Amino acid sequence: MELRGRVALLLICHCVQMASAVDVPKLVLNNDREIPAIALGTFLGFGKEGVVKSVDKELRDVVMKAIDLGYRHFDTASVYGTEKEIGEAVQMKISDGAITRDDVFITTKLWNTHHKREQVMQALKESLENLGTNYVDLYLMHWPMGLNDDYSHSDVDYMETWRGMEDAVKLGLAKSIGLSNFNKEQVERVIKEGDIKPAVLQIEVHLQIVQAELVSYAQSQGVIVMGYSPFGSLVTRFGETKPGPKIDDPTLMKIAQKYGKTTPQVVLRWLVDRKIIPIPKTVNPKRLKENIELFDFHLDDDEIELINGFDQHVRYTLPSFWQNHTYYPFEKVDNPIADPFVNKM
Ligand SMILES: NC(=O)c1ccc[n+]([C@@H]2O[C@H](COP(=O)([O-])OP(=O)(O)OC[C@H]3O[C@@H](n4cnc5c(N)ncnc54)[C@H](OP(=O)(O)O)[C@@H]3O)[C@@H](O)[C@H]2O)c1
Repeated sequence: MELRGRVALLLICHCVQMASAVDVPKLVLNNDREIPAIALGTFLGFGKEGVVKSVDKELRDVVMKAIDLGYRHFDTASVYGTEKEIGEAVQMKISDGAITRDDVFITTKLWNTHHKREQVMQALKESLENLGTNYVDLYLMHWPMGLNDDYSHSDVDYMETWRGMEDAVKLGLAKSIGLSNFNKEQVERVIKEGDIKPAVLQIEVHLQIVQAELVSYAQSQGVIVMGYSPFGSLVTRFGETKPGPKIDDPTLMKIAQKYGKTTPQVVLRWLVDRKIIPIPKTVNPKRLKENIELFDFHLDDDEIELINGFDQHVRYTLPSFWQNHTYYPFEKVDNPIADPFVNKM
């Protein structure tokens, strides 16, 4: 085919793709930057060998497909081992002319073994190298607890770590910074003692853990909440099913039928309507499309309240093996589980 014909074909393909892409709304952060209202989760789970890795560039291809569908926000972390494939996908889509770097929002996270102020920059530079970019849109402190290289507890105060995060903003390597898995008192302290206010708090939010108090506190302070593990008991996660409402729950089904949606879409929309950014993870193309088709309906207040009623205050991410750490953010349990990270990283 001659060059002009090929360019025309490429343009047609591009227009068809753009026509079917969802136009995701944005929220405004407390530093006036914008953040897309849904993020694709990219943690692939934790198996016997440690963190599960993407095979044959599966995740890269999922992220490329996600960009075609309209996803513009990707959630990763240095500990997930997915930064490289996200970076490759974004680069390929930029090379194709489908997007520019400014069109995508990349969130990554500082791991616990790099909590000393000077280690923050070192860790962020590694993440940037993996992602093939010279800045991240959002850098989160993954947990308030610092750990030494051998995973013993370090006593580095998370306020020292926060200074390192602030350095990253000052150097332009992170456009915004925030916190993940911090409790209310810890968020309050960072707001009070820090120079830069956290832009985002990423926490577990789903049917079994509605987080009314923490969400309301964060939002009252102008901190945007991102909700992880958004499907809760609805789905099988890493081969495990949890007690609680399932995909055919009658209350959720009734709402879903009213709007011509599925129950996973209703649950994601419940978060969007609470001004929480959901972070659904999927590697399945059909579910990838399903999970972003959320912006042509909304729930009414009674439906939001009804769904809030599922709350059991049950966490799925409860690293009780760290519960004796000074900065552990959650309630302690009687029988802590063994540390899956030791000898697995
Ligand atoms: N900050 C933190 O400490 C933290 C902790 C945990 C998670 N996160 C972030 O949050 C993201 C999501 O959390 P998560 O993976 O725990 O939970 P999730 O997104 O609620 O659930 C993921 C599971 O749901 C399945 N699924 C996805 N869409 C579906 C649909 N429409 N219908 C039925 N099943 C569906 C997925 O399977 P398929 O892939 O086969 O579709 C996968 O098994 C993570 O990837 C990560 O980015 C952050």
